[in-house]
Amino acid sequence: MKDVRVILGDITQSDCDCIVNAANKTLLGGGGVDGAIHRAAGPELVKECEKLGGCRTGEAKITKGYALKAKYVIHTVGPIYSGAESDAELLGQCYLNSLDLAKENGLRSIAFPAVSTGVYGYPIEKATKIAVDAVKAWKEKNPTYPIKVDFYCFSERAYAQYVLILKNTKY
Ligand code: AR6
Repeated sequence: MKDVRVILGDITQSDCDCIVNAANKTLLGGGGVDGAIHRAAGPELVKECEKLGGCRTGEAKITKGYALKAKYVIHTVGPIYSGAESDAELLGQCYLNSLDLAKENGLRSIAFPAVSTGVYGYPIEKATKIAVDAVKAWKEKNPTYPIKVDFYCFSERAYAQYVLILKNTKY
């Protein structure tokens, strides 16, 4: 897909305009990528998050990036994997709503982690397909707004999965 890359590494090091956080509904920090982003951004991030009043599953909210290289953080809350049909819909919404927010703020590059595939238990094979399909659908719907998308992977397994899905997806 045009302007889409897969990167094996730590998303807190990304120099995209914004990085996406796989947060929880409180937006007040946690483990995994959420913890890493809050540590790297510094204590001002949680202070701004405290004013946001949480976030529903599938939705997204934006803050500044503080000490991060990225100017902004888009916090989204993925579904806790249950096997229900609604899981896929909600996970797709995380990507679509994050991209909408990036566009609303004039941002031209965005880095995503594999939302829900850690603590929230979403199987990586399913989650990568949903992520790639959502980005593809968003790009098709917004052809006059080019945005660079990086999928950050924290494991070789996730990396291989994204590469495979991107290779097998027609554009
Ligand atoms: N850079 C890129 N990817 C990372 C990093 C990193 N620094 N660290 C972890 N990952 P998770 P979730 C990958 O558990 O499943 C938090 O406590 C990780 O390997 O961070 O959406 C929140 O507060 C996995 O593939 O997020 C919530 O309570 C992916 O990021 C809950 O976890 C997502 O794993 C959210 O769970």
